[in-house]
Amino acid sequence: MSELQEYLGKATMEKITSLAKRRGFVFQSSEIYGGQNGAWDYGPLGIELKNRIANAWWKEMTQLNDDIVGLDAAILMHPRTWEASGHVENFTDPLVDCKKCKSRFRADMIPQESLAAKKCPDCGGELTDIRKFNLMFKTHIGPTEDTASTIYLRPETAQGIYVNYRNIIQSNRMKIPFGIAQIGKAFRNEIVTKNFIFRTCEFEQMEMQYFVKPSTDVVWFNEWRKRRWAYYEKLGVKMDHLRWHQHGPDELAHYAKDAYDIEYLFPMGWRELEGVHNRTDYDLGRHTQFSGKDLQYIDQDNNNERYIPYIIETSAGLTRNLLMILCDAYDEEQVAEKGNEDDWRTVLRFHPNLAPVTAAVLPLMKKDGLAELAQDIRAELKEDYATDYDQSGAIGRRYRRQDEAGTPFCITVDYQSKEDGTVTLRFRDSMEQIRVPRAELTDRLRQEIKAYKRIK
Ligand code: GAP
Repeated sequence: MSELQEYLGKATMEKITSLAKRRGFVFQSSEIYGGQNGAWDYGPLGIELKNRIANAWWKEMTQLNDDIVGLDAAILMHPRTWEASGHVENFTDPLVDCKKCKSRFRADMIPQESLAAKKCPDCGGELTDIRKFNLMFKTHIGPTEDTASTIYLRPETAQGIYVNYRNIIQSNRMKIPFGIAQIGKAFRNEIVTKNFIFRTCEFEQMEMQYFVKPSTDVVWFNEWRKRRWAYYEKLGVKMDHLRWHQHGPDELAHYAKDAYDIEYLFPMGWRELEGVHNRTDYDLGRHTQFSGKDLQYIDQDNNNERYIPYIIETSAGLTRNLLMILCDAYDEEQVAEKGNEDDWRTVLRFHPNLAPVTAAVLPLMKKDGLAELAQDIRAELKEDYATDYDQSGAIGRRYRRQDEAGTPFCITVDYQSKEDGTVTLRFRDSMEQIRVPRAELTDRLRQEIKAYKRIK
């Protein structure tokens, strides 16, 4: 069996969804009422994982790039924003309905033969003509529900950056080329929301808009493609599960001159993970036109040359990245410890920088002061690491529980610990165990995290 077939056999979406629920990564929204389609809740391990993915991206963009600053814009924006951006007119999906079984489909997601024959792919009934369906959620602001009070939930975070571009140049004295990064919620009235958290109505994006001189856009576009690829390599993602997909003319968004997706091999196949887009001067040009404000950049180092900057966008889904990281980390392994051929473990091989819990402290026994000693060690590690403590059940079962939560290190406290001050440090991936003096634990973990290389 090839490595790929093996992965696709192990990491099914059913298993990932079930593990995510069982271990408190992701729950269905409003489950006790039967669930809300297109919305998910992140449980104790899920929010930790999501925060770490967001922090890794934020660090990569802002801390490691002197020319990128952050922003947190409001979800509710002036409705003219969405006219200017083109979303009111163009942000639509082509839909068809079955007149017989009443199913609704995205016309671009059903077999083209069904579409041409106007036959429902489910029941064979007659399909309606294609109609355009706008994906923006509309609501009203204020006490009246009329067109004057219509407001949208933002379908992308990018526009919050464009409308603040002038503020940021002025307040932070930014010089082109420079970028603005933002992480936040976005909302789309998606008709097809299957595959767990892959495509949802409420989700989070991590977007960076890089403002460049028009003639340099292609160079910067290629540069950002390179940097985004290198980022996933640094996160320890399986690189043979990533590939590029260039948008064809019929796929390009209304604002894009060129666009490449980074696709990931999810259990259901290759799917978009992140987009790198050359948005040209479309956005700032349109906001100039619709707001009446001059959004030209004045290049003081170049005879006050004026131009509307081009924008290179890197746009990743945070929640989709979380699904990718879960799928990428998922593994099942035959352990066959102590000659037991049926002994399997499920293990999430998260990079230690992303793992929700870095170290779990486990007393071998509750009695004889081992629990107290273990709690004491945990209290010491807490300052530097996300920790867990577990004293219930056989030690082997406790290791399995931590493997399944993706905890890279377990620290076991036993009778020898009381005598010589050493503990057992167990590595999730190799299951290797070594003895380490308690006093060296904090530093040892730091070294291990820095030197981490995925072995499988
Ligand atoms: N500002 C550009 C933009 O929004 P996009 O390709 O529509 O471009 C960017 O979205 C990324 O946002 C996608 O690559 C995906 O990771 C994520 N995304 C988009 N729609 C999503 C949805 N309905 N659910 C979860 N993630 C989504």
